[in-house]
Amino acid sequence: MRKKLLTVVGARPQFIKASAISRCIRRSSAIEELIVHTGQHFDANMSEVFFGELEISKPAYNLGISGGSHGQMTGEMLRRLEETMITEKPDGVLVYGDTNSTLAGALAASKLHIPTAHVEAGLRSFNRKMPEEVNRVLTDHCAEWLFTPTVVATENLKREGISAERIIEVGDVMLDVASYYRSRVSSSHPLLTSLKVDHQPFVLATVHRQENTDDPQRLRVIFTALSLIAQELPVILPLHPRTKKRLAEHDLTSLTSSLLITDPLGYMEMVACESSAAVVVTDSGGVQKEAFFHKTPCVTLRDETEWLELVESGWNRLISPQDPHEILKQVRAAIGTRGAPIHPYGRGESAQHILDKLTNEL
Ligand code: UD1
Ligand code: UDP
Repeated sequence: MRKKLLTVVGARPQFIKASAISRCIRRSSAIEELIVHTGQHFDANMSEVFFGELEISKPAYNLGISGGSHGQMTGEMLRRLEETMITEKPDGVLVYGDTNSTLAGALAASKLHIPTAHVEAGLRSFNRKMPEEVNRVLTDHCAEWLFTPTVVATENLKREGISAERIIEVGDVMLDVASYYRSRVSSSHPLLTSLKVDHQPFVLATVHRQENTDDPQRLRVIFTALSLIAQELPVILPLHPRTKKRLAEHDLTSLTSSLLITDPLGYMEMVACESSAAVVVTDSGGVQKEAFFHKTPCVTLRDETEWLELVESGWNRLISPQDPHEILKQVRAAIGTRGAPIHPYGRGESAQHILDKLTNEL
């Protein structure tokens, strides 16, 4: 009989990561997957679009839990995921990344003594004010199998006293996804034509991190910087719902008038933008790496990053958003540059390594 793996997803980057492993599981005769969507992200362009274009199986459950404070959201997810796991009796639980859905999934499973696999384990910013950092540390210490994407992540776990048998370094599943879809996306994507940037250099920007959006001063600095950049190059900004809300609340929406604002994009549209942009400006974890996968220089608007190898190799420039002119300077300096030829994320076969391990262990 096939073993039952219950996958918990809820937020945009998790759908994208889950697509690689789900595709492998569909070919497996040893494991069947049951997807549970917590509901954390719910707009069609933050959720449904990825199930369609990345061919992810329809979730068996959507718990419809979103918004509220961190405690409210995580607590409600914990309660409902526990109920679901009691009903479904999975042999293992699979969680991704560092969102509230990740922590709730790992905690619910560990209280029920269901072994849990954490994909993208071991990342650390060493900034406990980030909700993601708390989620990562707690998830790693609950989970049975810690699938790390990089040497740095593996070392972080060892330093926290996690035993070597629990750590499996497999590379980054986002590279699997990028490699699989790269050849399926044309560089002359209709989105670039409709935004009139198909034959000219442009900047792709994404901003959504809580420490940037919820601090009006930082949000002002970032959007002032993007306006300055837009005087030199077109700036495409697919607007995350959190950022949209905060710009309105802090009365900063006027700073977006010179930008090419779009709704959140689908994955293929993002690949088209990332691979054609002159520079990517972002505070997203996933987008930093995808810029590198597509050989585009990146400027990261944060105080620290979990993806140190990209900064050390020159693919990424890290700048704390304090001064708009400094950000403009970094963007100008990044254009036309390439970092060192590094391969820290494996060969795009991480999903299969994860499935092989789970097939042996479950
Ligand atoms: C979450 C994750 C973050 C991840 C990001 C990916 C946590 C703590 N944060 O942040 O690590 O980088 O997802 O994008 O789990 N909203 C909508 N429609 C949606 C989704 C969200 O309107 O489809 C609104 C929510 O109602 C809320 C706000 O956006 O008001 C923020 O959503 P939330 O899920 O709390 O956090 P994110 O900022 O998306
Ligand atoms: N992404 C997308 N559409 C967008 C913005 C991002 O498909 O409008 C994808 C992006 O290509 C990457 C993932 O979402 O694969 C990153 O997610 P996000 O930036 O929301 O979260 P983070 O990686 O910071 O947790």
